[in-house]
Amino acid sequence: MSIHIEHLLIDLLNAPSGNPLTTALWIADESLSEQDLVAARPRAELDVLTNRCDLGARLRDIGHTVFVSDFDFSGLAHETYDDIVYRVSKERPLVHHCINESYKRLKEGGSLHLIGNKEDGIRTHGRNAEKVFATPEHAKKHGDAYHIRLQKPAPNDQTTPDFLDSKDYDHLRTCTVGEFHFVSKPGVFGWNKVDRGSALLADYVNNLLAKKKSLGPVLDLGCGYGYLLLATSKLPFSKRHGTDNNAAAVDAAKASFARAELSVEVTLDDCAAQLQGGYDWILCNPPFHQGFATSSALAEKFLSQIKTLLSPQGKALVVVNQFIPVERIAQDKFKHVETVLNEHGFKVLQLH
Ligand SMILES: C[S@@+](CC[C@H](N)C(=O)[O-])C[C@H]1O[C@@H](n2cnc3c(N)ncnc32)[C@H](O)[C@@H]1O
Repeated sequence: MSIHIEHLLIDLLNAPSGNPLTTALWIADESLSEQDLVAARPRAELDVLTNRCDLGARLRDIGHTVFVSDFDFSGLAHETYDDIVYRVSKERPLVHHCINESYKRLKEGGSLHLIGNKEDGIRTHGRNAEKVFATPEHAKKHGDAYHIRLQKPAPNDQTTPDFLDSKDYDHLRTCTVGEFHFVSKPGVFGWNKVDRGSALLADYVNNLLAKKKSLGPVLDLGCGYGYLLLATSKLPFSKRHGTDNNAAAVDAAKASFARAELSVEVTLDDCAAQLQGGYDWILCNPPFHQGFATSSALAEKFLSQIKTLLSPQGKALVVVNQFIPVERIAQDKFKHVETVLNEHGFKVLQLH
């Protein structure tokens, strides 16, 4: 997240519309550093809605009122908030869903604050939100970040809102890629696609273990809609477990496995923190991104957890983009770190 966005977000959370006493909702779909989390001071008047259980838990720990769900607004009463603060998400259907639902939850005269960079499509989102609010946006630039404010009209100005197409955001649906079927929805990583790195990892694992008559338990750490366990479903693992920190992913994975009649335990958790371990196999396409400096803490966290969760004879197979120098961190933790595949821009590492 850019420094300007972070500052804007913290300022808005601490005093939306310049007033620290307004009743506000923060729609949180971002990762924040510990420093930022502390800077956003908890106040009785600020509620948080997030789909990430780890962010939810940390905010709850410092005193915020938090609702963790797949951006399910149904528990929040209409016409409740003076201000709603939202750093726009990457996916358009989710942004549309949040703009539509925010309109309903705002009091008359209340403001929706959208923040984001140009690359986030913030200007387009602002123009689209104008249609719902039927009032002009107020846009302000802060460095490379924009703050767009939309005010809900008073009753006598109000026309029927022209809600945005959220592609039926709330609902799971069956998706097909070639011969492969799964259940997913917007809000899940690569929700209607097969990730190329994950496909490479699944092919590798299927070849590696094709001749095995029995295998111990397997974990997919960061399971998304469940691709890796679905694509390796013919392998005779004794038990399967998928876990993710995103509420939408967990809902989708459960539905995908039910559809495929594959027995998998699925849990919402921060980096499998609640699991006991003892896995003979861990498959993982971790959420590491380009600009490794910003995600090396995440790499540390994922690799440490993998080490803790493996059984003594267990092996992890992890796929990452070729440019991510994950080996150095892995070598500090594992005796054996081997690049077993390096193609199409991805590498698969075997760790034990
Ligand atoms: C690159 S995606 C891979 C998804 C899936 N395994 C696949 O192959 O399609 C990484 C996944 O890690 C999840 N994730 C990110 N941070 C996490 C955390 N702290 N704990 C658990 N899962 C996390 C994301 O929600 C996302 O689903």
